[in-house]
Amino acid sequence: MSESPQGERLGSRAIERNRFAARDSAVPLSPSDVVAIESGVGGWVRLCRAADVGEDAPLGVVLVAAEGEEVADLRRVGDRDKVCVARDGDRWVALMDRCPHRDIRLSGGVAGEGLLTCPGHFWRFSLSDGRRTDKPDEVATVYPTRVDADGWVWAQLPPRPPAVSMRAWLLDQARSRP
Ligand code: FES
Repeated sequence: MSESPQGERLGSRAIERNRFAARDSAVPLSPSDVVAIESGVGGWVRLCRAADVGEDAPLGVVLVAAEGEEVADLRRVGDRDKVCVARDGDRWVALMDRCPHRDIRLSGGVAGEGLLTCPGHFWRFSLSDGRRTDKPDEVATVYPTRVDADGWVWAQLPPRPPAVSMRAWLLDQARSRP
């Protein structure tokens, strides 16, 4: 896959800068998290180096902003901007970094034999379609994923939902109550 011109301008230095920014934030990032700047077109976002993903240890990636935008408020990183990248042999798989069971990050789990085991209660999900092995109606969100010729992992993510102010959120909650 060829990188977008935007993607070409983003190097490890930019990621390093944002990793530094995240260090001082209130986001409960795990020590292994990589913080990436959102880039790419058509929903494709460059996440991390394939070589940085352990054979059985997934990598947590937090997207902070598109290039040229203000860095997002790191205390309010939503589910869409937290991505788990896992290895399945010679394949790399990006998933929403949230277990469908509880608010636990899948990147803290273990990958192996085509499965990702959640660290919360050890549910196991297929790295092909995200389905729980023993209860297939429970599904982890798997994104289309590819590795480019330069060894970067990309995933096609849904658009970032529009930011909602606390006031608007509270009004919405109040209206939805009987
Ligand atoms: S939080 Fe993942 S299995 Fe319970």
